[in-house]
Amino acid sequence: MSDKVVSMSRPKVAVLFSENMIKARLEMLGKEIAERCIKTGNGDLLVVSLLKGSFIFTADMVRVLHRHKVKLQLDFMTLSSYGKAKESVGNVVIHSDLKESVRDRNVLLLDDILESGRTLAFAQKLLEERGAKSISICVLMEKPGKLVHDIKPNHVGFVVPDKFVVGYGLDYANYYRELPYIAAVDDDKPRKRD
Ligand code: IMP
Ligand code: MG
Repeated sequence: MSDKVVSMSRPKVAVLFSENMIKARLEMLGKEIAERCIKTGNGDLLVVSLLKGSFIFTADMVRVLHRHKVKLQLDFMTLSSYGKAKESVGNVVIHSDLKESVRDRNVLLLDDILESGRTLAFAQKLLEERGAKSISICVLMEKPGKLVHDIKPNHVGFVVPDKFVVGYGLDYANYYRELPYIAAVDDDKPRKRD
């Protein structure tokens, strides 16, 4: 029976952030983003969501932004970085690119988790080269002490312990993305990241 196979191939996880905790934090982040749009005059956002890990975060965040009256358009880019969990080297690959032009746009980059900063540094540079007017960054989570690139997110949802986290869009071997909460996995196998 396939259920048995799935449960056998997935490690056990422990809840870190519940659905309610995520909801409350997103509400605060959305308010911060709306306030910054007003303060800087950089409204009319092009939200650039980095897939696959950010799909649930993005779906919830754009609806929070709607409630805070932020005008936006949305586009997606699928990026993967390859490397072992404890390596500081690796390449970022574009699997699918944006459909919208970023030229002269106020871009809000959304990513699931900031670790080495490799993915966001790549995305930020790409958008700068393509002529974005402004780029701000909102990450759902940040793992402190891991940065190897000079990335300073404008908004951070949660600071997480040095563990591999899954759920709410983030995966372990493409499993667990559907969990409505964020949980920690306890092992250190090499993984493909996206
Ligand atoms: P960075 O490029 O090292 O900053 O890693 C960022 C990307 O790796 C994120 O966009 C995630 O897709 C993935 N990633 C990093 N840490 C985790 C984790 O703990 N769980 C799931 N994905 C992760
Ligand atoms: Mg990602």
